[in-house]
Amino acid sequence: MNTLVTKLEHKWISLTLRQPWIPATEAPKVKLSTLPPDPVIPCKKPFKVELVGGKRYAWCTCGHSKKQPFCDGAHKLKAQGLSPLRFVPEQDATAWLCGCKYTNNPPYCDGTHKQDFIVSAPLHEQTDS
Ligand code: FES
Repeated sequence: MNTLVTKLEHKWISLTLRQPWIPATEAPKVKLSTLPPDPVIPCKKPFKVELVGGKRYAWCTCGHSKKQPFCDGAHKLKAQGLSPLRFVPEQDATAWLCGCKYTNNPPYCDGTHKQDFIVSAPLHEQTDS
């Protein structure tokens, strides 16, 4: 029978899963978080898009979509806890939508992609799985 030891620390939960026949010092530790995952960085510059007034858009917030900068549903498998940002522009407009996913003015680029933490971060490579 498993013994669960839980410890609440902010929004992190640490679990030690023990089997009676495994010494406590060798028991695997698992960390679970109730926080959503951080987005990955699919691109380090914004996407220039022509938006149609009154049309509904879903901007990808997780970075896993293959249809950047828009959502393709990839968050359901790869970034549970994140969901797309839905928006409807009031009028036709050319817009620069964030590609790094760390803008402070989503879905629009605010220049955050020029900061060191984005410039030095690895670019996420899309995979088929
Ligand atoms: S591309 Fe993300 S802030 Fe510019």
